[in-house]
Amino acid sequence: MNNLRLNNKWVLVTGASSGLGQEMARQLATIHKANLIIAARRADKLEQLKADLEKAAGVQVKVVVADLSTTEGADHVVAESLATGELYGAILNAGVTYFGRHSKLEWTQFEAILKTNVIGVVRMTNALVKHFEESKQEGGLMLVSSMSGFFPVPYQTAYSATKAFINAFGNALHNELTNPNFSITVFAPGGIATEMTHGDEFGELRGWLMPVKQAAKEGIHAFVSRKFNYIPGLMNRVGKVFMNFLPSRFIGSKMSKVYLKSLLKFEQK
Ligand SMILES: NC(=O)c1ccc[n+]([C@@H]2O[C@H](COP(=O)([O-])OP(=O)(O)OC[C@H]3O[C@@H](n4cnc5c(N)ncnc54)[C@H](OP(=O)(O)O)[C@@H]3O)[C@@H](O)[C@H]2O)c1
Repeated sequence: MNNLRLNNKWVLVTGASSGLGQEMARQLATIHKANLIIAARRADKLEQLKADLEKAAGVQVKVVVADLSTTEGADHVVAESLATGELYGAILNAGVTYFGRHSKLEWTQFEAILKTNVIGVVRMTNALVKHFEESKQEGGLMLVSSMSGFFPVPYQTAYSATKAFINAFGNALHNELTNPNFSITVFAPGGIATEMTHGDEFGELRGWLMPVKQAAKEGIHAFVSRKFNYIPGLMNRVGKVFMNFLPSRFIGSKMSKVYLKSLLKFEQK
């Protein structure tokens, strides 16, 4: 299968108002000269990004303000993306986490995590896959997951479970595709320095975080070269290989110690 050729093509990036999504949008526009549909809830951040990218890269940028934890929001983003008439790619990146004791996670917040990280992503994926399967057009879809979906991460229990769903969902669905020119990539970073990990509770983990520019560059590489699964960072990839040989219970207990240390420091402040 050919690599994706993004020049002058329309690509959807969700969660483009900050962090990884914003940086991928920047690199897609400035380096790959892609036209973008950028989606999130914060209109002011999206409008600013649109102005920056249209000026710096000379590409077209369409802003779609939507809450992707709702069915209406997810459907609206897909409809606006397909309305360009030439949608070529989509990076479903929007996501939320909760770092803390699972027993303290309010039910409404859990539902918001599940709806944003899983239900909204599946809703959009279903519509996008249907479009590319029926039209047989060339294109690619990338689901932004996390290494935390490969093994249990205590104190990010619900979050890591949502990402485990995305890893399994994306990899399984890729193998159901019948359009030879369309692919699904699962991108699974370790920690990245973004708004998501900005809070004091992540203090002890900060040294592990990858700069967002590097994560975005590797994400776009994975998308363009239609990787099946991709983990950015050589050390993360080596770590994942070692983890394949270790019992999940052992990994969970080690992760628990590291995360609890950071959480306790935060709670004692
Ligand atoms: N940071 C990490 O350590 C890390 C590691 C592995 C994987 N990831 C994954 O990378 C992706 C991006 O995260 P990030 O680190 O860049 O975090 P971030 O800076 O907090 O960005 C999250 C993005 O998702 C959007 N979003 C959240 N809830 C939304 C909703 N209900 N509707 C629409 N948009 C919503 C946010 O926009 P609005 O608030 O404007 O809506 C924002 O643009 C996520 O899927 C995350 O799970 C992150």
